[in-house]
Amino acid sequence: MPLNIIVGAQWGDEGKGRVVDLLAREADIVARYSGGDNAGHTVTVGENTFKLHLLPSGIVHPHTIGLLGNGMVINPATLLEEIEQVRDAGVIVNPDRIKISHAAHLITPGHRALDGARERARGAAKIGTTGRGIGPAYTSKTNRSGMRVEAMLSSENFKQRLADHLDQVNYQLDVVYQEKPLDSRQIIQEFLVHAEQIRPYITETGEYASHALADGKLILAEGAQGTLLDLDHGTYPYVTSSTPTAPGALIGLGLGIGSAGRVIGVVKAFQTRVGEGPFPTELEGDLAARLRGTGENQWDEFGTTTGRPRRVGWLDVVLLRYALRVNGITEIALTKLDILSGFDELKVCTAYRAGSETYQTLPMGPGNLKGMEGVYEQLPGWQSDLTSIRQWEDLPGEARGYVETLESLLGVPVRIISVGPERSQVVQR
Ligand code: GDP
Ligand code: IMO
Ligand code: MG
Repeated sequence: MPLNIIVGAQWGDEGKGRVVDLLAREADIVARYSGGDNAGHTVTVGENTFKLHLLPSGIVHPHTIGLLGNGMVINPATLLEEIEQVRDAGVIVNPDRIKISHAAHLITPGHRALDGARERARGAAKIGTTGRGIGPAYTSKTNRSGMRVEAMLSSENFKQRLADHLDQVNYQLDVVYQEKPLDSRQIIQEFLVHAEQIRPYITETGEYASHALADGKLILAEGAQGTLLDLDHGTYPYVTSSTPTAPGALIGLGLGIGSAGRVIGVVKAFQTRVGEGPFPTELEGDLAARLRGTGENQWDEFGTTTGRPRRVGWLDVVLLRYALRVNGITEIALTKLDILSGFDELKVCTAYRAGSETYQTLPMGPGNLKGMEGVYEQLPGWQSDLTSIRQWEDLPGEARGYVETLESLLGVPVRIISVGPERSQVVQR
């Protein structure tokens, strides 16, 4: 069986965790392949809501095995905390169930401190990062000075590597950013304890995954972030520092191109983004407030990781066409259709206009959206509540029309329509 890849088609928070949970029923292994605890994936099963940052969302299903692939950056402190949290909620976590790649990179308090210092130094030009040390950890990786999880296998060596790393961080904090240095001794002590706890989970996950595929197992790759946050393909420089797009699943898990099967693009029924950067269909005022919600419900548009209010806007098909291309999306899982109930009219951006030119696709990628104005198609809205609907035929005609318009504009089927956060709130086609 192949590797099916679930990827965010927008700026993250599309509801990937929710879709992973749905598809994990049939999977043997669920694997995170990029990013770190900047991700926040929500899974709601009955009364229980899990907010997962590093562990794959699929582990909520007891039959699955979770992999944390080599493409990830892992903060051992937050991982251990998360393991405790999900254990408290009754999820079994042990080295038989969770395997961490030896080649994933570690995030240290030094990386976090540098993330904060760099953002402060950028001032108005800040990225609006999650502050989790993601950029600096991937910088260490590409710099070839990073510490991989395998460094935890030998305490003596690890201690020395950490000390050298923290010396470098403190030098930068002091000389470049004029900020207070970190207490290296305390961090080293804590990390030596973390290493003891992480060691039993360290695995050659690529080898493990490839054997599983050969044995006929189904692997679900769980994308984090989204296409437009991809380091190469996103709205650079307002991006994360990894490769969340579908090809990143192969690199981030150590599998070859031939392994890939379905690529499921998770699309929220409208557009959202946290942090800075361009957003051509962004809304403000009353419409924005309605799409965002007040923060009372767990699904309102406030960051799962940082609690920041998300920016919101109409669905952007120009950006979705691009997401289809760079990911090779074969089908769509559409989430939060229920949130669009109660609007008289809905708008979908089908093209961009700049001066006298109209564009169906991006002329110079998503990093160059300045001056692009959305061209909108207006669609009739619907008033009824969708949250208890489970059959396609039971959806109001206007809601079906919204989905069918999207399919015809994109040329790929919408196979899953989510009408609420809970596992059962779904219409499958
Ligand atoms: P992810 O990062 O892509 O996994 O998405 P998040 O978990 O950060 O954000 C999605 C939010 O929407 C979560 O609070 C989910 O519980 C919620 N959610 C997912 N699908 C639906 C849906 O169809 N309807 C509603 N109302 N909420 C949803
Ligand atoms: P999930 O997996 C939404 C955004 C940050 C910021 C930019 C860079 O839950 O969809 P970083 O801390 O990665 O250096 O921040 O990327 N960002 C996300 N936005 N969902 C996420 O993850 C995100 N992970 C990072 O807000 O704009
Ligand atoms: Mg999220």
